[in-house]
Amino acid sequence: MDRRRFIKRGVLASAGVGLGVNSLLSSCVKANDRIVLALVGSGGRGLGCIINCCKINENVTIKTVCDVNSTKLAKAASAVEKELGYRPGVTAEMKEIFDDRDIDAVWVATPEHWHSLAAIWACQAGKDVYVEKNPTINIFEGRKLVEATKKYKRIVQVGFQNRSAPYGFTARDYIAEGKLGKIVTVKCYNMLGGGKWNESPEAPVPGWLDWDKWLGPAPMRPFSPSIVSEDGRGGWLSYWAYSGGGLADDASHVMDLCRLVIGNPPHPKSVYGWGGNHVFGGTRETPEFQSIVYDFGEYTLSCDNAYATNYMTKTPNDIRYDISKFPNWRNNATRTEIYGTEGLMYLGRHGGGWQVLGPKNEIVAQDGGIMPDNEHQINFIESLRSRKQPNGDVEECHRSATLVHLGNIAYRVGNKQLIFDPETEKITNDAVADKLARGSYRKGYEVPEKV
Ligand SMILES: NC(=O)c1ccc[n+]([C@@H]2O[C@H](COP(=O)([O-])OP(=O)(O)OC[C@H]3O[C@@H](n4cnc5c(N)ncnc54)[C@H](O)[C@@H]3O)[C@@H](O)[C@H]2O)c1
Repeated sequence: MDRRRFIKRGVLASAGVGLGVNSLLSSCVKANDRIVLALVGSGGRGLGCIINCCKINENVTIKTVCDVNSTKLAKAASAVEKELGYRPGVTAEMKEIFDDRDIDAVWVATPEHWHSLAAIWACQAGKDVYVEKNPTINIFEGRKLVEATKKYKRIVQVGFQNRSAPYGFTARDYIAEGKLGKIVTVKCYNMLGGGKWNESPEAPVPGWLDWDKWLGPAPMRPFSPSIVSEDGRGGWLSYWAYSGGGLADDASHVMDLCRLVIGNPPHPKSVYGWGGNHVFGGTRETPEFQSIVYDFGEYTLSCDNAYATNYMTKTPNDIRYDISKFPNWRNNATRTEIYGTEGLMYLGRHGGGWQVLGPKNEIVAQDGGIMPDNEHQINFIESLRSRKQPNGDVEECHRSATLVHLGNIAYRVGNKQLIFDPETEKITNDAVADKLARGSYRKGYEVPEKV
């Protein structure tokens, strides 16, 4: 056992602590130490990222994989063995990971309703965290995650990977240097394809799933195969109890990168949101289309989010991974347009870089860029070793996630304008909306007021 591990085990054992560990006792990975990770939620995203992270960083291993879907759990263990040459432990109970003193950091890649609670529990147990986007399912728990990160002195990297994109930094610098002039308005797009979606009837809980644990903080309800699938993602994005829909799934990336590029503005003062299932008319709770406007005081930021425009294209792979190529912005589904007084910047979100157009439609400045998953994973491991703030800083990512929640809440209370107090993070002109911003939790799975 190396010295660090010896100290950690010794202190924790003598204190007899598990969850709620005092921050003074928390772990602190040092430069070049071996880093031991665990995965909570072994779907396609979490498994792919954690394996890749071990491949591209030195001295990083996976000790345990946790999932409540036994089919995925078994497949995940085999995938780690095939890709990394050793078989990790498996469990369906994430608390076993938090209690394991060998584990330095927890990778949370569950559906969204579990993100904050699992991350807060991990912080309380003295673990560092990589938590997938959208990091929260309401505004309240975002603040609590920020508080837990600070209180337990943890490294928490939010999976908004565009925060590690070098082309995002050059775009930010271009705007900060005043070259785009004063920002007039900003338009974020997430215009994806889709079709009619209807919930399937309730069914008995399948043997491969621990439904109670999958639901966790969400209300108990009968199982439906529409929500969870044995070997894929399932349809949980269509339900408010488990996600913020397409706005949380994809538009969150667009708005988060946009916030980084325009200088990480504080919360907006108000939001107007309009949406619905007017296109196909399916029974999904999260809307097929939303159009949202946020008031940032000196400019507006809007976001149009659809599962209905099948002719638009996400940045294709040959552009995503080629720094010399730029998307065709006009039908690019996930672009941002930043209108300054001196020019218009097009910004890609799956790589694609940025380009600024002048008055004659000429390109006056540009920088190429590729999908920055690797950069974000490297930055996470570097932060674990240096104890420096990671790029996916939890406070900024909470602000980006808040845009998602405000947009969704404005739709849910009947397509309204809501006034938001940036200091208290409360919606001040609609009590029902403010209750949605606070959220609620099933007994035993509460995000606490005091973390
Ligand atoms: N950053 C990105 O670009 C990006 C891309 C894709 C997905 N994601 C995010 O990553 C997360 C996972 O996405 P996915 O496509 O793999 O989804 P998924 O539904 O396939 O995987 C989630 C897994 O979590 C498991 N799970 C649920 N409750 C659990 C619990 N209590 N304990 C342990 N495991 C539990 C599920 O059984 C499932 O296997 C989502 O939040 C998604 O939004 C991010």
